[in-house]
Amino acid sequence: MKNILITGGAGFIGSHTAVQLVEAGLNPIIIDDLSNSHEKVLARLEEITGKSLVFYKGDCSDRSLLDEIASAHDISGIIHFAAFKAVGESTEKPLKYYQNNIGSLLALLDFMKAKQIKDLVFSSSCTVYGQPEILPVTEKTPRQEAESPYGNTKKICEDILVDYVKSHPGIRVISLRYFNPVGAHPSGKIGELPIGTPANLVPFVTQTAAGIREKLTVFGDDYDTPDGSCVRDFIHVMDLADAHVKALGYLGEQQVDFYDVFNVGTGKGNTVLEVIRTFERVNGVKLNFEIGSRRAGDIVKIWADTTKINSVLKWQPSFSLEDSMRDSWNWQIKL
Ligand code: UD1
Repeated sequence: MKNILITGGAGFIGSHTAVQLVEAGLNPIIIDDLSNSHEKVLARLEEITGKSLVFYKGDCSDRSLLDEIASAHDISGIIHFAAFKAVGESTEKPLKYYQNNIGSLLALLDFMKAKQIKDLVFSSSCTVYGQPEILPVTEKTPRQEAESPYGNTKKICEDILVDYVKSHPGIRVISLRYFNPVGAHPSGKIGELPIGTPANLVPFVTQTAAGIREKLTVFGDDYDTPDGSCVRDFIHVMDLADAHVKALGYLGEQQVDFYDVFNVGTGKGNTVLEVIRTFERVNGVKLNFEIGSRRAGDIVKIWADTTKINSVLKWQPSFSLEDSMRDSWNWQIKL
């Protein structure tokens, strides 16, 4: 069975990807420093998969730990999730973001070279597109100047990968540009677990519905969109996780050095108010929300053109927004 190292494998997207890897007959080796995740996720993963999983607690830029892992397991590919992702914090502590997000990628590339590991799937983000002029965005849509140091780390990491692949024959890399990941494993055993006050919409929605937060504020309803609230492409985390498995499979078929990027979204835009209404409808819960002022730096509308990933990786989303809202809520009540 092939061993796939997943950095940040105890986190939201990483943990769901671990499940999908096992489903696909691959063996995830998880490394996570637990800075934004919990160790108990491991037990949950074992409950879901019925397998015992290998877990290393530590920093994925710690070369001696990586070497220790490689001497115990023959690693055939890496999925690199581990990164800081709080946009607001990144503007206050940019160096923390540059150091961690770029440093860890550099360390992993060096490790891959030393151990002759060929394949890497990198977590990028639709943040690289900024506010695009033409929608939906394809992978050819020009990237824009980043709105935050966090966004800039994603752009820089993509650029590093392009250069690295050019100069390292045999290396195969895919960057996946995630749109807005939501939902949870349908069992409710794993999901998104933000530490402190959530910055993202759906955790704020579920925590408000659960009474942890008093009220949700919708950041603006006077934008040029169907109902005035912002538009995003909300992708169920299980579908997103599956895209990583497809990406690894595709890398394995490439004969020479290879780099490509794929959007991972549903191809559909939904407004913030649609998300709220859908959440209320499918779960039969009333949400306490008010319309507030716009959030500085918000993108007004963005959703993905998914033609490329549909045709090249043969990937299709199978969960709807309704499923996402049901699974997010199921996870919140089980917490
Ligand atoms: C944000 C980041 C993006 C990052 C992504 C990771 C910004 C500007 N962008 O994306 O770089 O990759 O998270 O998941 O921060 N909303 C409310 N009320 C809330 C929270 C959110 O109305 O309490 C709205 C926002 O205004 C936005 C939408 O919900 O229109 C989605 O917000 P969010 O979940 O923060 O994601 P993004 O802004 O798309």
